[in-house]
Amino acid sequence: MESEKGLVYVTRKLHFNAAHKLYNPSWSDEKNFEVFGKCSNPNWHGHNFDLYVTVKGIPSPETGFVINLKVLKDIVNSVIVDKIDHRNINLDVDFMKGKIATIENLAIAMWYELLPHLHGVKLHCIKIYETERQFVEYFGE
Ligand code: NI
Repeated sequence: MESEKGLVYVTRKLHFNAAHKLYNPSWSDEKNFEVFGKCSNPNWHGHNFDLYVTVKGIPSPETGFVINLKVLKDIVNSVIVDKIDHRNINLDVDFMKGKIATIENLAIAMWYELLPHLHGVKLHCIKIYETERQFVEYFGE
């Protein structure tokens, strides 16, 4: 069967719970509180994060898939979710060492963690919801 032309964007949603605080270690506690408010509270707080990983590609003529979503799920779980779920982002997550634990920085770090593990598709977007009303998207630029 001949494959039709067309780039398709495919997304897998995943979930993790984690603790963090927003804190710049080169500032005083007062300045951190001024900038980050209660998000800088010393004893951490948690979120239920939603993570959307979008890849793009042309569907295979043999499977009709851009990527097998089970395969994508397994990769994201082993490279990212297993390292961050039920952890402290500031203290426990190797790819966030030395970074301020915002979802902006998380999205960029996750992009570069995932990139070497994706073959045959292009990573398009990492989207992270921290709350229902707050989310970021990173497109690798
Ligand atoms: Ni927070």
